Amino acid sequence: MRILLTVVLFIVAGLSIATYFVTLPKPPALPQAPISEEVLQQLPQDRKGQVLIYGAYGFSGSGISRLAAQYGITPVLAGRNEKKLKPLAQSLGYDHVVLSLNNHDNMVAVLRHFEVVLHIAGPYTYTSKPMLDAAIAAGTHYLDLTGENHVIQADLDRDEEFKEANIMVMPAVGFDVAPTDCLNVYVANQIDNPTTLTVLLHNNFNAVEGIGSSRGTAKSALEVLSRPLLMRQNGEMVEVAAPKVMTRIFEEREQTLVQIPWADMMTSFVSTGIPTIEVYSVQEGEVPSWLLSMARFEIGRNILSYLIDNFLPEGPPPNVQKDRQNRIESIVSNDAGDTASATLITPEAYLLTFHSTLIVARRILDGHWESGFQTVGKVYGPDLILEVPGVTRIAPQN
Ligand SMILES: NC(=O)c1ccc[n+]([C@@H]2O[C@H](COP(=O)([O-])OP(=O)(O)OC[C@H]3O[C@@H](n4cnc5c(N)ncnc54)[C@H](OP(=O)(O)O)[C@@H]3O)[C@@H](O)[C@H]2O)c1
Repeated sequence: MRILLTVVLFIVAGLSIATYFVTLPKPPALPQAPISEEVLQQLPQDRKGQVLIYGAYGFSGSGISRLAAQYGITPVLAGRNEKKLKPLAQSLGYDHVVLSLNNHDNMVAVLRHFEVVLHIAGPYTYTSKPMLDAAIAAGTHYLDLTGENHVIQADLDRDEEFKEANIMVMPAVGFDVAPTDCLNVYVANQIDNPTTLTVLLHNNFNAVEGIGSSRGTAKSALEVLSRPLLMRQNGEMVEVAAPKVMTRIFEEREQTLVQIPWADMMTSFVSTGIPTIEVYSVQEGEVPSWLLSMARFEIGRNILSYLIDNFLPEGPPPNVQKDRQNRIESIVSNDAGDTASATLITPEAYLLTFHSTLIVARRILDGHWESGFQTVGKVYGPDLILEVPGVTRIAPQN
């Protein structure tokens, strides 16, 4: 019995040590050698109309790359790992360039060949700043898919730099937040001086029907969970102890909705100026307290990221994407007691993201952009999202 116990203890200790080393943060990759003139010569020599997709071989990057031609875009694909990048580029017939975010000079040298960069590599907590630094230096417009509020706040703080560089920086052009931002602008225009905006997110599937998010989204969520919970109240981002919970009758069923730190609290504050913004999502089970505790520590996030990378599917497969729908309702009110609301029905979140990113990129190439930090609804108006196939807006008849 004693021998058995000792063996089990040795196995557990061995596994723990192995997990610890496996999940240790990787040392930062050494900066690449300067990019060769030969590589630069192969890039587009006139940047007009040229798009670089960075993070092209990730789940969302490849979805966007595959759809680019539908929007008249012939991108060059980029990422840090040639083994993953080259086969994708070859299969789609696009050029590619291997590039590390760690080498600023190389990034600038490459970005100078492009009018727009679609930055699809996340979590943006780690990837946004080096790409923005390069975009500013190269004078390249920047779009990304972040939903991380602390990243968007950091972008907002650099607004003057973007204006000086005469570039548009538009974060969050995916499901989080292109549709909600457009809908929020739409309802905000219906009443005078709106003071409160409430966004309700529903969908036609639940967690037991399969994975709803990509690995990148799951890892980005860990970054949000590791930070204090901030909500938009009276114009400020205020730390709260716990999210609010509401119940609502929807399609004759009582549903529980939980407040979430959705990026509308940053972006729609810019788009609409509404001082109090709350976003709720249908509760699909509670985040376990052990996961919240683990996410607070770097070692905990490393272990969880390792598990996500090795055990979660890369994202919802195409057949699942096809069947899923989201329903977004935005409601505004003002001090005079006026209210207005409208609803968007959208395709599955990643499918929508692929289209919305390319629609915005197309607009920039067509000359429609404004310098500085910008949001989708502010620059392109509420109807832009109706260009995504499968999106419909329902406004109550007065
Ligand atoms: N807001 C939205 O609605 C929305 C929708 C879709 C995606 N997203 C966000 O977009 C990001 C990507 O999502 P995904 O679904 O494509 O995830 P993914 O499949 O995990 O792909 C992540 C990509 O980022 C690259 N990457 C990560 N860290 C990097 C670094 N330090 N330097 C260079 N490349 C790096 C990865 O390359 P390696 O394989 O070499 O690490 C990979 O190409 C996530 O942050 C996600 O939250 C947001």
